[in-house]
Amino acid sequence: MLNIVIFGAPGSGKGTQSERLIKEYGLHHISTGEVLRDHIARGTELGQIADGYISKGQLIPDELMIRVLASVLDENPEKTAAGVIFDGFPRTIPQAEALSKMLEERGTELHAVVGLEVPEEELVKRMLKRGQESGRADDNLDTIVRRLKVYHEQTSPLRDFYKKEGSYHPVDGTGDMDRIFADIKTHLDNRKD
Ligand code: AP5
Ligand code: MG
Repeated sequence: MLNIVIFGAPGSGKGTQSERLIKEYGLHHISTGEVLRDHIARGTELGQIADGYISKGQLIPDELMIRVLASVLDENPEKTAAGVIFDGFPRTIPQAEALSKMLEERGTELHAVVGLEVPEEELVKRMLKRGQESGRADDNLDTIVRRLKVYHEQTSPLRDFYKKEGSYHPVDGTGDMDRIFADIKTHLDNRKD
């Protein structure tokens, strides 16, 4: 069993590296951003609420987001048996506390937090490029700037939170994607928990 948080700013490579982690460790991937975008595409009530926040680069309120995560976690117990990669959750201290509690209630725990560290200039470049190629709605300069501000104000304090817990593993998230993955793997395979 291996439960990991893949942590980092918007555009830091959480989704990209999650794909490699799924293959290597057979983990179940939960990207809260993808869950919300799927609801938006299907026009559900949650999707309509989420769209209002995502388009402004703001976070969905904690209470709602925590409920959404708990229901996704319980949807497929057989798929989560080997462990889960949490991508884009937690994004606030209350979400981090809720995650620990949720895992404990399900008889397990969080094993590691992998932090992808990428300079801001590079993040902006990557998201603008993806915006042009994929048309993702929040990848426009105005929303990117807001997402980064929200990250600095509300999400980056989690680095210290997890550093204090001893579970934070920083990884240089720039350059070759395979090298980044090799670094992540070294951290995960050598961790002490
Ligand atoms: P979410 O979907 O989680 O978006 P994000 O955190 O902004 O991150 P991204 O998905 O943009 O980037 P990523 O780190 O996955 O990088 P990727 O691998 O794609 O959240 C979207 C919104 O939903 C939030 O703003 C919020 O409103 C809401 N939300 C979600 N979770 C929430 C929560 N818990 N609480 C409240 N609200 C929540 O890579 C980016 C690009 O760079 C790609 O094109 C990729 O190909 C490229 N790339 C990757 N690695 C490299 C590399 N090494 N070199 C060059 N290019 C690279
Ligand atoms: Mg992503």
